[in-house]
Amino acid sequence: MKQASKIIAGNWKMNKTREQAHDFFKALGEKHLRDNHRVIICPPFTAIAIAREYADNMGFTVGAQDFYMPVKNGAMTGEISTEMLMEIGVKTVLVGHSERRAHSNETDQLISQKVKHAIEVGLMPILCIGETLEEREGGKMKQVLRDQLVSALHYPHDKFIIAYEPVWAIGTGKTADAKTIDEAHKFIKSVIGEDVAVLYGGSVNEKNAQEILGIKSVDGVLVGGASLDADKFSAIINA
Ligand code: PGA
Repeated sequence: MKQASKIIAGNWKMNKTREQAHDFFKALGEKHLRDNHRVIICPPFTAIAIAREYADNMGFTVGAQDFYMPVKNGAMTGEISTEMLMEIGVKTVLVGHSERRAHSNETDQLISQKVKHAIEVGLMPILCIGETLEEREGGKMKQVLRDQLVSALHYPHDKFIIAYEPVWAIGTGKTADAKTIDEAHKFIKSVIGEDVAVLYGGSVNEKNAQEILGIKSVDGVLVGGASLDADKFSAIINA
């Protein structure tokens, strides 16, 4: 029986030199990968061109982890624009990752502007949302998710993707259990629309991917640490 197609996205964060990226793609290319999933890989800016060299043959698309807006170019030292990313073949971009919310002070207001800008220029934003442990334990999960979803509320449902990444599950090895994931995804879909793709992220690995991808309300996964290793990432794609 052919299984439903899901989205498998990898977020390399601040990892891999260009040489290491080559090694990764060569190793991934040697694996037999099922081809009905949509695979997206988000390398650091410096390795995007390397990813593009392999993307078409290997059947994945390339995403970026961030961009600067609202200006297209100008006096913004250290920043990268959507125009620059699109010129080198980037199709997707992460927006509002909890690490950027926490370390770069990105607010829901800025994140809303970024989602709007990405959609306007034709990049597919993956809007990352998720509650902290404190918010969950304080009974605020739904309110937090609802507030974070406002950024995408008024756009056509095929123009963006949501990634539900509970902050307490990112990089901690503590994956949310199937019931918790299903409840959150159903809630998100009830707010934003049943037909919006909602990925789960937070300590997804080659061991838990099959169970997570088997949850009906899960349209795919956003993988951090385990996307850096060709063995693990291919096992997730094939899960
Ligand atoms: P992790 O990261 O898989 O290492 O927990 C996920 C993410 O931050 O997108």
